[in-house]
Amino acid sequence: MPSTKTYDVLIIGSGGAGLCLALKLADYARIAVISKFSLHDGSTFYAQGGISAVVDAEDSIASHIADTINAGAGLCDPEIVHLTASYGKQSIDWLRSQGVEFTEEQHEDGQTRLHLTREGGHSHRRVVHNADATGKVIAESLIARAQEHPNIHLFENHNAIDLVVADKHNPTQRKVTGAYVLNTQKQQVEAIAARVVVLATGGANKVYIYSTNPHISSGDGIALAWRAGCRVSNMEFMQFHPTCLYHPDARSFLISEAVRGEGGHLLLPDGSRFMQHYDPRGELAPRDIVARAIDNEIKKRGIECVYLDISHKPAAFIIEHFPTIYELCLQVDIDITQQPIPVVPASHYTCGGVVTDSYARTDITNLYAIGEVACTGLHGANRMASNSLLECFVFAQRASEAILATLPSLPEAGSLPAWDESQVSDSDEEVVISHNWNELRHFMWDYVGIVRTDKRLSRAMRRLELLKDEISEYYGNFRVTSDLLELRNLVIVAELIVRCAQLRKESRGLHYTTDYPEMDNSRPPQNTLLTPGQ
Ligand code: FAD
Ligand code: SIN
Repeated sequence: MPSTKTYDVLIIGSGGAGLCLALKLADYARIAVISKFSLHDGSTFYAQGGISAVVDAEDSIASHIADTINAGAGLCDPEIVHLTASYGKQSIDWLRSQGVEFTEEQHEDGQTRLHLTREGGHSHRRVVHNADATGKVIAESLIARAQEHPNIHLFENHNAIDLVVADKHNPTQRKVTGAYVLNTQKQQVEAIAARVVVLATGGANKVYIYSTNPHISSGDGIALAWRAGCRVSNMEFMQFHPTCLYHPDARSFLISEAVRGEGGHLLLPDGSRFMQHYDPRGELAPRDIVARAIDNEIKKRGIECVYLDISHKPAAFIIEHFPTIYELCLQVDIDITQQPIPVVPASHYTCGGVVTDSYARTDITNLYAIGEVACTGLHGANRMASNSLLECFVFAQRASEAILATLPSLPEAGSLPAWDESQVSDSDEEVVISHNWNELRHFMWDYVGIVRTDKRLSRAMRRLELLKDEISEYYGNFRVTSDLLELRNLVIVAELIVRCAQLRKESRGLHYTTDYPEMDNSRPPQNTLLTPGQ
């Protein structure tokens, strides 16, 4: 086994959160950024709508705070919401300083200003964007900057297996010292030691068979942190995006909420609108409400999908604002300037995650979590659209402040114990992995989806217990592969989602159960908190 590589900071994940932090630290520390596949493969690259930020004189931080708290159904941490909303303009300015370009428009006074789009839950136009490819533009600029910096070492095809924690069983002494990582090109496990480790691994939405997310979103960071001893919170609040393209050749393609923000209507197959029966805000109600309404119409009427129609707007407007969606739909013979788009809800965002404080610190010394992997308290029971990218940049900034303050007092990274492969062999049964992977994602969709019941959750838990044993035995006997690592993480994340869902005896935000269809207002709202070993 190769000797330990050492860095000041190891960042696991090259999405918006990880790269932003790397760039903020790079003038002061040697950084390794690892990515499971290519540098581009996180959710960040696919983000469409944009970043919410108060940059318009008519808007206010107070209004952004109120909208976020309203969407979060009583569980947002008001201090964290205040902090995040206050960093909006600063985050946009920083991105522009890194070369990120946003869509602008000319105003009547002759001035050019950022074009702001609108999404569900926002009471103002507040979403800064680059047409409908905001994430791509951000990812490409940040990757280019990181590649230029001599202190940032980028490693593609490096899959983090587990964190290394010294004094693991002593909660007051334990500290992270690095991670074991599978180099998937060499099929070799490497040890990377660091004075600080940051989880920036994104969400866990691939736990469901239908998802808007790229393949990397298997909740690895949540599982790594959980195995290392960190608390995890609010995992029942998995967000389903209302409008994913329904077409056999383009399963996980998102149709941005900005399409509704710019006037798109949701329609039944007979062409009638239905959202007004569910919420006075119609198509621009928060996501949980819209996704549940669509799910209800689909199930009630036995239809395969509903339709999103923006064809009443001028074709030039549609093509200018939604060039990516226009092109992708055209590839499957849907001309969105002429016809409605068939859509269904799909798993989109993980509101819960690794518990952190306002500086992104986790329960383990020197271990931080930023971006979608973290549960900061911003989203509560339902994330408002476009608050996620903002959270990535705000908490990368906060983590950079905390890391730079502590780094000078931390000892150099040392070598890590060797990875032990003496008891394992190569697998001759890869089919077990693909079979279990499919089974898990199907039953999570069927039993732990948009509408839950106690019975469905128990069914899911029984299956998870069987799968957990099978996967753990397999992991103990065979050499690790990327697919095995992801499955091992997915089963943990699925269990955390079901356990949190079972603890919540009410419906709130994204968690809806027909056994307790109302919000429990008899006591103050509570976050669901799971502690390893309990
Ligand atoms: P990601 O960008 O997902 O990056 C995760 C990184 O971690 C990747 O580099 C991955 O390779 C790496 N990784 C994961 N596991 C491992 C491992 N075991 N070892 C090594 N590396 C690992 N939010 C908004 O605010 N506005 C939007 O308009 C918007 N649109 C969206 C559209 C789509 C289609 C999707 C899927 C999401 C959208 N979101 C949007 C949500 C937002 O994009 C994500 O929450 C955010 O980009 C997450 O960034 P991140 O850096 O935390 O993780
Ligand atoms: C979208 O463009 O609809 C996605 C926005 C988000 O997830 O915040």
